[in-house]
This record gives sequence, structure tokens and C-alpha cells, in this order.
Amino acid sequence: MLVKAHQTGNRLALGHRSPVSQNRFMTTSAKPTPTRRRLLLASDRGDHSSELADILREVGEVDLVATADIPSAPARDISGVVVDINLRSPESVQMVRNKLRSKAYSAVPRLFVLADALHHASMQAWALGATDTIMRPLDAHAILQRIQAAFPASETYDATDRGKMLNRGVAAAHAVITKIFEKLPAGVPLKFSDVVEAEGKILKAIKHSSLREWLTAVGCHHADSYRHCLFVTGFAVAFAQHLGMREEDQRRLTRAALLHDVGKAFIPAEILDKPEKLTPEELAEVREHPRRGYQALAEQGGFPPEMLDVVLHHHELLDGTGYPNALRGNQISDIVRVTTIVDIYAALVEKRPYRMPYTHARAFGVMEKMGGKLDQQLLQAFRPVAFGCF
Ligand SMILES: [Fe+2]
Ligand SMILES: [Fe+2]
Repeated sequence: MLVKAHQTGNRLALGHRSPVSQNRFMTTSAKPTPTRRRLLLASDRGDHSSELADILREVGEVDLVATADIPSAPARDISGVVVDINLRSPESVQMVRNKLRSKAYSAVPRLFVLADALHHASMQAWALGATDTIMRPLDAHAILQRIQAAFPASETYDATDRGKMLNRGVAAAHAVITKIFEKLPAGVPLKFSDVVEAEGKILKAIKHSSLREWLTAVGCHHADSYRHCLFVTGFAVAFAQHLGMREEDQRRLTRAALLHDVGKAFIPAEILDKPEKLTPEELAEVREHPRRGYQALAEQGGFPPEMLDVVLHHHELLDGTGYPNALRGNQISDIVRVTTIVDIYAALVEKRPYRMPYTHARAFGVMEKMGGKLDQQLLQAFRPVAFGCF
């Protein structure tokens, strides 16, 4: 028995790991994700979005169409739709809405180009089902990174069921993280159903693919905060599956991991992405994120208590030196302990602007040295998941 089993309340049922899941995380045969895509670029611009089309051709074939000519169903191997229209024109918006609301487009990611940072245009894009947005002036590097993060590559999309499941899981997780970091600060509420919709796809992706492939797929994300949440989710799901948790507990942990840093949506990006050391004031502001996230979800309502528990307490430490409430020992639930371990581990092995990623051995060593701050028994149970995925 790796860790004590619990069945009720805020406790997770942590059972034996199965030999099957153990072997899966030890696999070393994953192939890198191919990068070619087929994209539909819908434009109503006088220049036919030629600059954008040239940028997109770096990562795939581009089918350039006028908005009136968007096909009623997308090509079978399409990776996503890029919409470059005048979002202030009611006719253009209506035309795109009519075309994309067809069921055939429901699972296709869509990237909208905004002319400026105006609130109205971005709201319009979200209302049209945007998966992500980019802004003029066009930055080729940023656009390509966003396409790679949000749009599955055609070969894997079409290649195997495993590849499809991985892509669907990554796209579903990406959509939730985008809602957190872009819609929430713009006043669009995040609903519990948004998260529930994604969790099944994420669980399936990691179960039928591998944690390594998940990390490879999400590792190219353009923003540190997004990438971090996607890493934490991957580690949490793989850990849950490794421990043989019940399906419902796996779902609870997936939701919690996806949303754990929701409060960072309210912290200015200049602070979150600052490459230099934070000032004491900035650090204090970052440390507000558990409370800010908790308040946002509690005010919105409909989120289960264990999710609020994780959002508020994932920086608590067993010896009482954590924040915001300096909880100790048994005051910290299992789901929080698991999230804290995968959160710290993910943060250490991620690349940051101010340092290279830690090796797995070094990250593990740091966490072992944290001694009584972390549940060391649980940390040891996590070792094969962490070491087996690279
Ligand atoms: Fe956090
Ligand atoms: Fe985090």
C-alpha cells in the first residue's frame, strides 16, 4: 500500500497502482508530435489577409476563403479555423456566426484576429466561440506558438485514435485555461460545466496516450502561466491513474488541477511573466492569487467544495509555513496535498524566463529536502510517475 486509503469527505480513495499503469509511465518509445496542419483562413479583408496567410503557411496548408465561402462542413483533416474579419461589422459577424454554428464545426478550434485590444471585439470573438485570439500588429512567432498550442497537427489528428484522443484532451484543457486567463478577467464567468466538459477528454488523452506525450504537446505553449496549468493537470492525472484512484476521484483531481491557479487571472501579466526577481510588493500580490481565485469561484457559485479547497489552499504546507491560512497537518486535505506536490514539481521542471528547467532528479531532491512541509510518503509514490515520463 503506497498511501492510506480514504473513502469519504474531502479524502481521495488512494489505492494500489496497477502493473499496467506502472509500465505505461515507464515507456520510452513516444514519438515527437508532427507539426504540419491544414488550416481554414476566413477573411473579409481587402488584402485577403495575405500577411497572415504567409505566416500560417509556416505550419501548414492554408485554405483561404472569403467569409461568404466558408464551406458548410470543414475538410476532414482540418486542424482549425482562423477568422480574420471586421468584428465591428454586424454583417461579417452574422455571416461567420451562421457558418460556424453548424454542428460540423462544433469540435473545430477557432482562432480570431482582433484589430485592437478593444473589449467589444474580444467579447464578440468569444461569443463566436473563439478558442483563442491574436491581435494586430501580427507577430509571426507568437501566432505560430498559439496555433501549435491550440490546433492539433494534421498527421496526429488523422493518424490514430490515440493521437486523436491526445489532441482532443489538449484542446479541451487549453480551452478551459483560455477561459480562465482571458475571459474571466474580461468579466465572462467560468462555469463548472466548462470544466466538467473538458475533464473526460483530458483523462482519456493521458490514459490512452502517455504523460510524456501530453507534456510534449503542451510544452510549446506561448505563455508560462498557461503551460504551467497544463503541466500540473498532466502530472495530476497521471498520478491519479498511477495510484489507481476511482474514476470519480480522478475527475475531481483533474478539475482541481486545471483550476488551481485560477486566481492568477487577476494578477497583472507583467508581474506573472516578469523575468527578474519580484519586489516584496509584487511577491505579496502574487501571493494573493489563492484568495482571489477562491473569491471568484465562490461568488460565481456551482463549484464543489473540494475545488474551492484546492484553489484556496494549494500553497499551504504541512508544517504551517504556507499561505494564505498557515494550515497545518491534518487541516490539509488529500486532494490539496496531491495538488501541492504536482504543482511544485511542475514549477521546478518548467522552463522559466529567469532559469533553465530543473532536471527531474534535482527537482525531486529539492522536494525531498522540504521534509515535513510536504507529504513525503505521497511524494515517494509520485516518483515513478515523474521519472517514468522522460
Ligand atoms: Fe498557485
Ligand atoms: Fe500552480
